[in-house]
Amino acid sequence: MRFGIHTLDEVSVKGKVILCRVDINQPVDRATDSLKSTHRIEACVPTVEELLEGGGRVVLLAHQGSDIEYKNYYTTRPHALVLSRLLGREVKWIEDVCGPLARQAIRELKDGEALLLDNVRFCAEEQTLFEKNLKLTHAQQAQTQVVSKLAPLADLYVCDAFAAAHRDQPSLCGFEQLLPSCMGRLFEKEYCVISQLMQSPQRPCVFVLGGAKVADAFLMMETVLKGGAADQVLTGGLVGNILLAAKGEDIGQASLDFIRKEGYQEFIQSSQALLERYGDKIQLPTDLVYVQGCAMDIGPNTAAAYQRAIRAAKTVFVNGPMGVFEKPETEAGTRMVWDALADTQAFTVVGGGDSVTATKKYGKTQDIGYLCTGGGALIRFLTGEELPVVRALRHAAQVFPLGGDRP
Ligand code: 3PG
Repeated sequence: MRFGIHTLDEVSVKGKVILCRVDINQPVDRATDSLKSTHRIEACVPTVEELLEGGGRVVLLAHQGSDIEYKNYYTTRPHALVLSRLLGREVKWIEDVCGPLARQAIRELKDGEALLLDNVRFCAEEQTLFEKNLKLTHAQQAQTQVVSKLAPLADLYVCDAFAAAHRDQPSLCGFEQLLPSCMGRLFEKEYCVISQLMQSPQRPCVFVLGGAKVADAFLMMETVLKGGAADQVLTGGLVGNILLAAKGEDIGQASLDFIRKEGYQEFIQSSQALLERYGDKIQLPTDLVYVQGCAMDIGPNTAAAYQRAIRAAKTVFVNGPMGVFEKPETEAGTRMVWDALADTQAFTVVGGGDSVTATKKYGKTQDIGYLCTGGGALIRFLTGEELPVVRALRHAAQVFPLGGDRP
């Protein structure tokens, strides 16, 4: 048991039907019916491999895309192909989540075989809008279609979806009410790395916060400054621009218009308090790169100063690029920060989709201490709140002692 949650070390899986919830949500290319990145799929392979090699019958559940903006909302068929290639064995796939076809396919699984079900969010009860509107308790989630139809076929629930641990949805929090449950290897690893980062980071501990996910970045900034985890916060991207505007610096009318257009005007006001309180710890860009009057990257002096801070740190956490790194004219700031991440002696943690993409683009994957799969979950975790999936797994650890069979 770790963090009050059972681990895979405590279970024997031979001959058992295991429902394994993974987060393999990736950007999709609909035109070619394929995935633009496979980072999260690669990350869950050790858990799936361990379950299969132990002789388990593995049923994988996953969501793909968001029902809120209908972005990347897609079937999990391409994921099964990638998983099969990575595992070197067939992962079956079925165009069903918990209906008769899925249940029959589960019953037909043999020891050491895996089946990936279709996108769980094709079931209304798994959708984020449903979660936000109905706010089902975990006990109610156990009565939903996905959980009530699949749980009777299974012996064990394994959650390896740390990146979705902030979601209060039945495939994440409902099975723990009915089945012995544990976390997978990826969940355990991410939980461990992030807890250590929050509780006892080697100092100086520097947070580099950039990108365009403004609400998340400010939430995280406040949390790590208030809690004392961060000795210094280096800012860039839209986050840096907003802080500069809050300080009354001139970032150009086009940049201000962009902030307004994106609906982030309120952060210019709200971040003033943050600057007043923690101004000595928050570092703002001292120069910027402009394209058509809009600030799109940190300038060379800022990037050089950030490199020095990263190289002098003992722990560095990065979430968000320094500018529009997809374009050659505005990528230098991000590239220089990632160069320093690669050669610093500090323990480095990189989280969030764009930051993972930047890491791959600059070929730094092997140089980063830990590359997190989580974005939203990671941020919620850093705020110190108990994530819904963690609460559900802890409940299962209390109710279903492992080693035994289902009650
Ligand atoms: C993510 O991409 O952060 C996770 O897969 C969760 O996805 P969601 O924000 O659509 O729930």
